[in-house]
Amino acid sequence: MRIGVPRERMPRERRVALVPEVAVRYVKLGYEVILETGAGLEAGFTDEQYRERGCKVTEETKAVYAADIVLKVQRPTQEELAWFASGSTLICFVFGLSYPQDVRCYAEAGLNLLAMDAVPRITKAQRMDALSSQSNVAGYKAVLVCANALGKMFPLLMTAAGTISPAKVVIMGAGVAGLQALGTARRLGAVVEVSDVRPAVKEEVQSLGGRFIDIPTSESMQDSSGYAKEASADFLNRQRQILYKHVTAADAVITTALVPGKRAPILVTAEMVQGMRPGSVILDMAVEFGGNCELSKRDQTVVHNGVTIIGESNLPSMVAYHASELYARNLLALVEYATKDGKLALDTKDEIIGACLLTRDGQVVNERIKQLLAGGE
Ligand code: NAI
Repeated sequence: MRIGVPRERMPRERRVALVPEVAVRYVKLGYEVILETGAGLEAGFTDEQYRERGCKVTEETKAVYAADIVLKVQRPTQEELAWFASGSTLICFVFGLSYPQDVRCYAEAGLNLLAMDAVPRITKAQRMDALSSQSNVAGYKAVLVCANALGKMFPLLMTAAGTISPAKVVIMGAGVAGLQALGTARRLGAVVEVSDVRPAVKEEVQSLGGRFIDIPTSESMQDSSGYAKEASADFLNRQRQILYKHVTAADAVITTALVPGKRAPILVTAEMVQGMRPGSVILDMAVEFGGNCELSKRDQTVVHNGVTIIGESNLPSMVAYHASELYARNLLALVEYATKDGKLALDTKDEIIGACLLTRDGQVVNERIKQLLAGGE
């Protein structure tokens, strides 16, 4: 069995799906590993490092895509799709609910597609949870990007020239990204407030030194597996009213609020931005899924009334070395889990494989994506 790792072709993607340390493990498992020349370079890994670990490194792009299993970060472009061999298995991020038409193309190309973003967030699958590993990295970087764009410092400083008060940071969403952003902003000395719909996260926020913004409600905001439910229009209206004074007093706002598979809720309105101080910064991490800020634009930085609104959709790529390292380990855990007798066994009855297998034998097999496609979306 051959594993192929191509260079990423999506613009601004610097990560790679395999790092040298992990390559050794595939070789030990009996896989032959073939990488495209320069695949790891932008993440900080040289061809030589992969060769030393027993990988073949080649300039023949198509030979890499012709492998039995292809490991990638981003879903393939149309150009890449033509290079795959029908019947091969592709493992990468897909976000199939947002891009169902692409999933159909992958099925038509004969790919067996395992989506890393669809790995269920259950204890058994923790080592494969690439959404969490990348959100962790992204939450950290989000704070640094904001700090960089802000004309203020984060910590309280007492100097001979007087005192500088700490920056105020508001974080929306206390999931993996939000909690890491909270920890990072606190380490830099900021005062941090956090809003989330799940009351259960209040304690976590407080234990990391954040202040929780309570939104009193009688609605149940959490499903049985602990995920947030989509908030009602009434709840969101009340939430925005409460958030107004926190957002308009903030130096930096980092938004990460999302309910999986839904459009991101609008939490920072144009009116709130209007009320913010010039020089303050908003980083909308949910920009790929519609955005939490009414004025954010994907992969653009816009300035409105002196407020900088950053719509960076690929923060992990800005920390490519460690993001790749964690992602490569997530991939290995999935491949190890699915390998039986030296071969990848795609058992759809298995709760992990069943959840992340989107296409097989020319068909889309994920029910929710099938429904989206049947509805013409
Ligand atoms: P997560 O599912 O762990 O956290 C999302 C949080 O939002 C949950 O705690 C949920 O309760 C909360 N939430 C839902 N509705 C809310 C509302 N109305 N108000 C406040 N909180 C609300 O997700 P994770 O992994 O932390 O990712 C968060 C976001 O960051 C996602 O949109 C994800 O796509 C994005 N992301 C963006 C990256 C980038 O480079 N821009 C990189 C990684 C993740």
